[in-house]
Amino acid sequence: MSTYGYFDDKNREFVITRPDTPLPWLNMLGQDEFYGLCTQTAGGYSFWKDARLRRLTRYRYNNNPMDNDGRFLYVKQGRTIWNPGWKPTRTPLDAFECRHGLGYTRITGRKGGVEVEQLMFVPPNENLEVWRIAVRNKTKRPQKLSLFSFVEFCFYEALNDMTNYQRTYSIGEVEIEGSAIYHKTEYRERRNHYTLFGCTRPVDGHDTSRDQFVGVHHGLHDPQAVLEGKCRNSRAYGWNPVGAHQIDLTLKPGAEEMFAFVLAYVEQGDLPKFAAPFVLNKTKGRQILAKYSDLATVDTAFAAVKQRWADLLSIYQSPNVPDEHLRRMVNTWNQVQCMATFNLSRSTSGYETGIGRGMGYRDSNQDILGFVHLLPERARQRILDIASTQLSDGTCFHQYQPLTKKGNADVGGGFNDDPLWLILSTAAYIRETGDTTILDAACGYADKPGSKDVLLHHIETSIAYTLKNRGPHGLPLIGHADWNDCLNLNCFSKEPNESFQCTGDIAGSKAESVMIAGLFLYAARDLAALYRFMGRNDDALRVDGYYADMLKTVEEQAWDGAWYTRAFDAAGHPVGSKSCKEGKVFIESQAWCVLGGAGRNNGRAKKALQAVDKYLYTSEHGCALQYPPYSEYHLELGEVSSYPPGYKENAGVFSHNNTWIHIGWTMFGEGEKALEYYLSICPSAKKDHDVYRSEPYVYAQMTASQFSPTPGEGKNSWLTGTGAWSFVAASQYMLGIRPDFAGLRIDPCIPKKWKGFTVKRRFRGVEYTIEVKNPQGVSKGVKSLVVDGKKVAGNLLPPSSGGRTAVKVEVTLGA
Ligand code: BGC
Ligand code: NOJ
Repeated sequence: MSTYGYFDDKNREFVITRPDTPLPWLNMLGQDEFYGLCTQTAGGYSFWKDARLRRLTRYRYNNNPMDNDGRFLYVKQGRTIWNPGWKPTRTPLDAFECRHGLGYTRITGRKGGVEVEQLMFVPPNENLEVWRIAVRNKTKRPQKLSLFSFVEFCFYEALNDMTNYQRTYSIGEVEIEGSAIYHKTEYRERRNHYTLFGCTRPVDGHDTSRDQFVGVHHGLHDPQAVLEGKCRNSRAYGWNPVGAHQIDLTLKPGAEEMFAFVLAYVEQGDLPKFAAPFVLNKTKGRQILAKYSDLATVDTAFAAVKQRWADLLSIYQSPNVPDEHLRRMVNTWNQVQCMATFNLSRSTSGYETGIGRGMGYRDSNQDILGFVHLLPERARQRILDIASTQLSDGTCFHQYQPLTKKGNADVGGGFNDDPLWLILSTAAYIRETGDTTILDAACGYADKPGSKDVLLHHIETSIAYTLKNRGPHGLPLIGHADWNDCLNLNCFSKEPNESFQCTGDIAGSKAESVMIAGLFLYAARDLAALYRFMGRNDDALRVDGYYADMLKTVEEQAWDGAWYTRAFDAAGHPVGSKSCKEGKVFIESQAWCVLGGAGRNNGRAKKALQAVDKYLYTSEHGCALQYPPYSEYHLELGEVSSYPPGYKENAGVFSHNNTWIHIGWTMFGEGEKALEYYLSICPSAKKDHDVYRSEPYVYAQMTASQFSPTPGEGKNSWLTGTGAWSFVAASQYMLGIRPDFAGLRIDPCIPKKWKGFTVKRRFRGVEYTIEVKNPQGVSKGVKSLVVDGKKVAGNLLPPSSGGRTAVKVEVTLGA
């Protein structure tokens, strides 16, 4: 229990006990195509599929308060106006609670003896959200009050919506029918969709003009209609359409009133667009409202959200892991974050505006690693979508738009790590499912759409691209950047109006990346193993050859004495070397050289991890990205040194890359170190929320490091590669239940004092109950494996279980 809330692990909820958290604490509603962002004070917005092209409600980023727009309810009780979620009025409440659950948020506020509960969720496979409202009179007297709902509509294309007012102030259109508000801006011309905001009970008034409801000189904290207790029944013509309903209630002592609001995205499909000239065909909207007017349907839909999560999470559970934080993250919240990163990549959160970045090529490939066990068919489709944004020469669009699946031409390609991540996601999919047919799935290149090429071709193209594009040391060329978007070794921008990352011509550039070399090792080893699994030994041997060649280069060119060099800049100078004044040791090249298998036979891998431990790690915050931070702007290094020391890529704690080191420690059987490092970045383990500030239940992209003036401050939560990689590190390497091509590999690496733990894992149609015992107090090493009473050699559970669907596995660790 902290000042702000606590985990209710049984109900898989985080309970926020006061509304004024150090930053807005966000939840994600939805799993399919309709998504809602929702903070503990009901701030946030909703969109369908694409937060840029189909934004339904308006949200002003970088607002103050940050989450000033949202799904608001106002209560007018006597002369007082208040919100159950506290904001926007911030009228002090007698009681407040917000429960962020899996796919839902339930806010309950009480004032003057009246309790209002607002439960918000997105039913599975529906393009809508429901707010189920309960109003309770907790007093012994009758209570008279008015309740108002409020959302502000967005004109769908979010960038235009927030920049082009000379147009947008004149285009807004709505229709009203009973309690249903239809937002139909631009519907007369190209759009075939609209937004419905309706209430399941009759209302006592409505507003659709913001100027009428809020008032031109008022704000969301004191809307005029609410102050006066009376909607104007306005119809918006231009300006800013909103949706507001008024419901007058008189509640007997102890009475409760329940009803719901529905916010839906509706596509007309083949239906006639209009019922009469200029009149929207409302058939679908009416059907939706009719369906949810029955509160039993609302409750069934809510139960379906819960059931869906329960089903998904039942695929992987390790209920009695001794460490509380690891247990909670791996069983619940880390998997929830994996769902969000899979769906949203880096497009939209409290920090990502939904306009900038869309789906990242490298990001989405990595997100699959933590998601594929949940819904492998969706991962399969995603892999093919991502691969289709690769060009036939091997380069990849760095980002693409979720709705159109088309690469973002403004940013383009040339981030030279991108192609290789496709191999990791594909291998993870095949390890999970055994389905190698994905390799033959048709998948054109972005410059040759519809061609007969297949996924395997993309994978070979990616390998060939890296092999071909090498620099003076034989290491892969970095292009605009590698995983570290800010290591722009070819850009040389002196001009403040230029992009750090994309300025300059990378053709003929010489800067090289050791991180990409390590990633190549990892990918090539995966691909060779895959070819072996498929019985294609010649191909496996060919790829082994590439591996050996790159390994030799890494060992000959990239060892700096006590760690791996990070890169060579365009002039051939090392980056991340003892010879550098600043930025001597970087985390990424240690991580990827170790993960790729470099330094195994010559002691360097262990030394590389020790360098991380010595220069980068603190147990309070985790590992900084490099040491020492850059104190000056280095033209030749790009964006990295543009950040003040200790933030972001300039030696902040970038959680994502920490997880690779967690895996690294497990490779050396260092169970204590792996857990200690794991806990150092684990949000659930953060002790002082006034320092950490970000959500305690999901990873933030970065924490200000020991080198900054605000060490320990988390920032940019939810959308980070930490989600997927942390789940991989914890479930596959620490708890050690790891899908492999030929079966399920059992290879835990735990603290010696752990006596054991259990994992339940559904894998290729079989339900495994895996009991791990540690009688000798070791960290690693499977001494015996007993499968349904029979001893099995080695540590691999073969996929065929002789038709059994439930298998019991007893694992004894020991020397
Ligand atoms: C940030 C990176 C991010 C990149 C996206 C940079 O400013 O520091 O973390 O990946 O922008 O282009
Ligand atoms: C965040 C980006 O989404 C990711 O692609 C990148 O690897 C990291 N920042 C590090 O720069």
